[in-house]
Amino acid sequence: MKPRNSWMLAVLVVMPLVVVPAKAEMASGAVLASTCYSCHGTGGKSAGDMPTIAGKSDKFIVNKLKSFRSGKLPSTVMGRIAKGFTDAEMAALATFFSGK
Ligand code: HEC
Repeated sequence: MKPRNSWMLAVLVVMPLVVVPAKAEMASGAVLASTCYSCHGTGGKSAGDMPTIAGKSDKFIVNKLKSFRSGKLPSTVMGRIAKGFTDAEMAALATFFSGK
């Protein structure tokens, strides 16, 4: 390989590393949502006792999450979980699960 080509290759290899930290400011709805799958099922479709959250309206999900966070809505675990998310992250989660 000519030296010029290997310089180009080095740029291509380094580029993704530069792009990733900028994206990490807020994880995407899909990434945030994956933390819910262990209880609510993959994609939010529960196979067990947990409520299915996939396909619920985004307003419904945001209202629930905010009410869990504030304690207005009694919960076993969701209050603690909801405390870990900002309003913007809740909106991203709701958009993801509503399928919009
Ligand atoms: C440790 C298990 C667990 C995890 C993880 C979890 N949940 Fe829940 N979720 C529950 C339980 C249990 C309830 C019922 C309320 C309660 O007792 O906390 C619930 C209820 C809900 C409800 C209300 C559903 C309804 O029909 O009333 C929503 C919305 C919800 N969760 C969203 C989420 C989102 C979004 C995440 C990921 C950020 C998440 N949950 C992660 C266990 C979990």
